[in-house]
Formats: sequence, C-alpha cells, structure tokens
Amino acid sequence: MPFIRNAWYAAGWSREIGRKLVARTLLNEPVVMFRTESGQAVALADRCAHRFAPLSRGQLKGDTLECGYHGLCYDATGACVLNPHGDHSVPRAARVKSYKLAERDGIVWIWMGDPASADEGRIRQFPQFGSPAFASVEGYLPVKANYQLISDNLLDLTHGQYLHPMFTNPAGPATFEPSSDPDPDTVWARFMRRSQYPNKYFQFLGFPADKLGDHRNCMRWNAPAVMLLDVGMTDVGRPESEGISIPTAHLLTPETETTTHYFWAMSRDFKQSDEALSKQLLEIGVNIFNNEDKPMIEAQQVAIGNTDDLLSLKPVLLATDSPSVRARRIVLRLLREEQPSMQVA
Ligand code: FES
Ligand SMILES: [Fe+2]
Repeated sequence: MPFIRNAWYAAGWSREIGRKLVARTLLNEPVVMFRTESGQAVALADRCAHRFAPLSRGQLKGDTLECGYHGLCYDATGACVLNPHGDHSVPRAARVKSYKLAERDGIVWIWMGDPASADEGRIRQFPQFGSPAFASVEGYLPVKANYQLISDNLLDLTHGQYLHPMFTNPAGPATFEPSSDPDPDTVWARFMRRSQYPNKYFQFLGFPADKLGDHRNCMRWNAPAVMLLDVGMTDVGRPESEGISIPTAHLLTPETETTTHYFWAMSRDFKQSDEALSKQLLEIGVNIFNNEDKPMIEAQQVAIGNTDDLLSLKPVLLATDSPSVRARRIVLRLLREEQPSMQVA
C-alpha cells in the first residue's frame, strides 16, 4: 500500500538535529538532516547526485554538506555549489531533493509530498511540550512493523490489561466508550475506568490504593498516525480539570512498509521540577513501549508475513476495533484523494 505523502510526519525531536548529520529513512526515502550555523533545520535526500553515495557519510562545511566520496558540496536547498574537480564547473543536474521542514513544540516535522501544498497550518499541536505548566520526557524506538499495526495498538487500549502489568486492573479491562468524532479526519478512542481503584501506575503517581477514582485514557488520532493520549484520574464523578493530567504524544512515521519510527513523549502537570520522577517516568515509558508493546507488535507483523494490509487478511473484529478501523478507512480515503491513479484496495 502506498504512503500518504501530503502530510506532516515527525522526522525527529528538535534536540536530535544539530551539527551532526542524522540519517533516517522516511517513507522508503533516505534523508539526511542537520542544522545550518544559524540554527535552521535542513533535510536533504541522503544520496549524492554523482555516484549516489549517502551524503550522511560526508561532513558539514559551514552551511554546505560535502559528500564523503568525491567532495561535491551541496547547500541547504540541495543545489551543488562546489565541484572540486577539473574546471570546477557544476553540472546542472548536480542537485539533490530538499524537503520542507517545520519545527513546532520541539518536534521537527517533514513534508514528504508536493512542496507547493505544504500547509504549516495542518501541523497538529502539542502545546504541552515546552509549556511551563508541564514537564515532559521523550523517547524514540524503531519498530519492525507497519505503522498501522502500531496505530491499532494505540487505538485499542484494552490491551493494557493483558500486555502491561502496570496497567492491569482488578475490575477488568477498561471500558470502550464509543463517541462521535468531531471532524472527518479525527478519530477519538475513549477508554474509561469509572469508579475503580487505581492500577499500579496511578498508585505509583500517588493515588491511594484504597480510593476509588475515575480513570481515563482517551486517544486522539489524526492521519497518517499522529496521536495524543489524554491520561488522567480524578475523584469519582469530578470534572477532569480537577485531576492530574498526563498527555502523551505518539508520533509514528513509516520507515518502510514493515518498519516504523516511533516517537513518544509523556508530559505531566504536577511535580514538574521533580527530576527523580522524570527519570522514573522515562524508565516506565521505555519499559512499557520497548519491552511490552514492541515485541508483541513485531511478533504480530511476523505472524502476518510481509503484508502491510491487515484488513485484507479478514481479521475478526471486536467493538473495540472500531476506532482503528475508522482510522484505516480515513487513511484509504486520503490515499485515494491524493493518489487517484494508485491501486488502493
Ligand atoms: S558520490 Fe558524492 S561526490 Fe561522488
Ligand atoms: Fe501498550
């Protein structure tokens, strides 16, 4: 299945991109990223126009990137600006693709499609990052699975009961509460545990083990796979504004059809300056995503072979699958709109 191209994908965290070359394959295209001396983030095709050596094996010289093989130098627009050989003339075709980037909320977003239609107004906002009201920890993991298998995982949080010991509840899995979506491109998946005792996670965060509360896990999905999870717990029947809030971003960018870059960040609106808590939350996040979700999703990809189209295998669907099925339908609609000549099942 092709990828949606006219969309903003997370290419990295802002802090990752500096004066050291970062090579990352995105939507099957090798990309090299760096910052100019004035701090502007740049993304170029990671393939020299000469003999196709990866430019990420070269080095930065000021604001130009020198190929590590025969020394052609490219500027931030991808134009070759120096040929050190012969009469130094630069062949007209000596240019590599440059990608449009935008930085928001500590995330470097990349537009992989037609640059003319790159609308920065379509970038989803994550205002909790960088806000003094929140403290955040962030992580990255490569996953050997199609990005939509990971969206499925994140849109059906009943799996927490079985896959994540820290999220297990004596009263059973969270209840999926169907809701209508506010616009045709957004899916909400709401999972609630009303009037229940806290699981180990909320006990760790200080919620008394013997006190009932309302616990929510509400995932917002936008195409292609940009998600924000609203996690919180309040006293029974109290408004969400009274409890603690742990908004967690899950940003999935396909590397290939069967591999994905998974960027996540967990914020909190309490004990913001507690460094020890930040460290513990980072460890918890890494353990849950790397050691519990990732192996299951990768095993699922092995089980279904190399396909990137789960629904073609006619899986049994449960009521809790409706958000992920809606998300997959939106992806298909957007693909058909964007690439009408493509064969999309
Ligand atoms: S491959 Fe880059 S200069 Fe030759
Ligand atoms: Fe999970």
